[in-house]
Amino acid sequence: MAGRDRARFVCQACGAVAAKWAGRCEACGAWNSLVEEVATPRPGGLARPARGAVRGVDLVGLAGTTPPPPRRATGIAEFDRVLGGGLVAGSAVLVGGDPGIGKSTLMLQAAARLAASGQKVIYITGEESVEQVRLRARRLGLAEAPVELAAASHLPDIAATLEARPETGLVVIDSIQTMWLDTFDAVPGTLTQVRAAGFELVRLAKTLGFALVLVGHVTKDGAIAGPRVLEHMVDAVLYFEGERGHQFRILRGVKNRFGATDEIGVFEMTDHGLAEVANPSALFLAERRGHIAGSAVFAGIEGTRPVLLEVQALLAPNAGGTPRRAVLGWDAGRLAMLLAVLESRCGLRLSGNDVHLNIAGGLRINEPAADLAVAAALVSAASETPTRPDTVYFGEVGLSGEIRQVAQAEARLREAAKLGFASACLPLRLARGGKRLAPPEGLQLAEIGHLGDLLASFAVAAKTRKPDKTPA
Ligand code: TYD
Ligand code: MG
Repeated sequence: MAGRDRARFVCQACGAVAAKWAGRCEACGAWNSLVEEVATPRPGGLARPARGAVRGVDLVGLAGTTPPPPRRATGIAEFDRVLGGGLVAGSAVLVGGDPGIGKSTLMLQAAARLAASGQKVIYITGEESVEQVRLRARRLGLAEAPVELAAASHLPDIAATLEARPETGLVVIDSIQTMWLDTFDAVPGTLTQVRAAGFELVRLAKTLGFALVLVGHVTKDGAIAGPRVLEHMVDAVLYFEGERGHQFRILRGVKNRFGATDEIGVFEMTDHGLAEVANPSALFLAERRGHIAGSAVFAGIEGTRPVLLEVQALLAPNAGGTPRRAVLGWDAGRLAMLLAVLESRCGLRLSGNDVHLNIAGGLRINEPAADLAVAAALVSAASETPTRPDTVYFGEVGLSGEIRQVAQAEARLREAAKLGFASACLPLRLARGGKRLAPPEGLQLAEIGHLGDLLASFAVAAKTRKPDKTPA
């Protein structure tokens, strides 16, 4: 066979193939992303079956049922919640996150829990030595758990071991970027290797019936290196995230074939590993100081769970030049829109101010329902009037300043009542034949239809003009 090993260059960001190297990928525009990889697998690689071995596929009807695959709860409730109830036999989960965020710690804890419950668990580390993992296990108090450990990265060796142990319940690969096959000339971590190793491991999980967890590092721009090639291959994609310097860690489901997405698990980092946080609202609000202008509590929903968060806004006089808009934990475009609506529809001018917005605790909010809480924090900062500390806010703001309905209002209100809040500021329910909200006992509702109503409650109309008149 004329199997020429022709060099080709594969963009590690988008997967485009180029014949020669260039500093910039022509397909996606990424810089320095082309890496030389060999196109043809060597003979003996992915073997084609002989003609006689092909036997066709079974076709079935749409009606009929298949029993759901068995699930195994790891015993770490926050992890199980994001998985949709536990690890599914024969499925593959990708756990992505920044280096140092705590992926190995979380997976070792989950592996130890599952092993202690009688499952056979194999932990393959390609990044650390056996001694390093043992050290971590000792620090976490898990050294006695019957986890089987190996430091390896050559996938055929690992596959041989797994095939010899069909009774295995969970296999953790830490990390997929270190795995390599000798069918390809590319170095570990390149698109070709990550894709091939991922594919092989997923195939093994399906045929042998173990649950597979692939740990993957996220590159700077947020893509799991070997860009998203794994995401479509696996059954669930979870991101482990958190701000460095904060003790909270959030495990977020972005894809799940066996459960709801957008579910989050909340953990707190401690000296002896990750502790589950069963009541995140209490934790996120723990450091809140009442009676400070520029702070408002948002009643949010993360997945199926209501979570209360503090939104903080700070206005500073602009020292000249373009005013700064610094946002942590929220969308900068959304903030720009809110500022524009506040100015055009409500006459609240903040264009002479630097605006800093922060979601306390390091959580990232994606919900438009946070608009009203952010607006309340901004208006509170502008009027130097604290929001009532026992009030929560939620509602989406439209371009004309109208406050729009958001989903799951009841769940948000229940959470607020549970944490001792006395009132909620929320979108006005128009009597469109719909049923009225029944607030939980002890919770007062302040329903508003327009941002102007919010400003009126702070009596900012008169006050805000002042800072604008004195030039900075
Ligand atoms: P590690 O699990 O190694 O992160 P990753 O696998 O994502 O790169 O954790 C990074 C460091 O943080 C490690 O030195 C241990 C420390 N750490 C704690 O001390 N407590 C914790 O709860 C966690 C999660 C990590
Ligand atoms: Mg690690």
